[in-house]
Amino acid sequence: MEQKKPTATAEKVIEIKGLFKSFGNYHVLKGVDLDLYKRENLVVLGKSGTGKSVLIKIVVGLLTPDQGEVKVLDQIVDQITYKDLLDLRLKVGFSFQNSALYDSMTIRENLEFPLVRNQRNLTKGEVNSAVEEMLDAVGLLQTINQMPSELSGGQRKRIGIARTLILRPEIMLYDEPTAGLDPITCLEINSLINEVQDRFHTSSIIITHDLTCAKAVGNRVAMLLDGKFERQGTFEEVFNTSDKRVKPFYDYNFIQ
Ligand SMILES: Nc1ncnc2c1ncn2[C@@H]1O[C@H](COP(=O)(O)OP(=O)(O)O)[C@@H](O)[C@H]1O
Ligand SMILES: [Mg+2]
Repeated sequence: MEQKKPTATAEKVIEIKGLFKSFGNYHVLKGVDLDLYKRENLVVLGKSGTGKSVLIKIVVGLLTPDQGEVKVLDQIVDQITYKDLLDLRLKVGFSFQNSALYDSMTIRENLEFPLVRNQRNLTKGEVNSAVEEMLDAVGLLQTINQMPSELSGGQRKRIGIARTLILRPEIMLYDEPTAGLDPITCLEINSLINEVQDRFHTSSIIITHDLTCAKAVGNRVAMLLDGKFERQGTFEEVFNTSDKRVKPFYDYNFIQ
């Protein structure tokens, strides 16, 4: 299923230069250079434990770099005040791996929660229409009064994305959005990621192991290998190589 992608612009919304991050003697990121352009979907690939989640935690200021510069929407993340960091985080929606919905709240309450906490001046009517619009955008308006436990894994994922989108972030960070889902549901989530890009004009980083996902959603692919992004480009450019660290990825996904 080839999908036509909107062209990314030349404007950078994330600029990472010479980023290093270690935990004790374990060097995870060893000179990461990476840019995210406005309106593009950038797929980040890499084996488990290579530092993909660490990278996006640094982007939102949950972890600090040891060395290097991380600029998000023109602000250097580890040099701004805590208040500016909180404001910046409102513009960067992150859906973490295993990020759960609040089990004791209805779907409506799950979506209201971030809105009411962050935009205290909204009227009840404005909150309701924002919640309904966002549920409609992910195709799940009918679940509004249900509890998370009544939904399928794929539906919960969609609700999680809606909850992140409700603050209208400029940047979306998806950490393994299709992990643990069956192949058909993965395709639905891939379509949703593309719809979000089209409808909300977001710029996104999508972390995945799933090359079908990478192909379906990525304008560009970057592969984290030994702490650096040595291979970046279109899907074909990244995989057209005899690099022994890259081929197993491809073979695992496409060759039996
Ligand atoms: N807060 C932390 N303290 C110590 N080690 C960490 C911390 N966060 C991540 N790590 C380690 O860094 C490595 C990369 O982690 P992570 O970014 O989660 O990998 P992945 O690419 O699978 O997302 C792992 O070996 C992990 O154990
Ligand atoms: Mg991870």
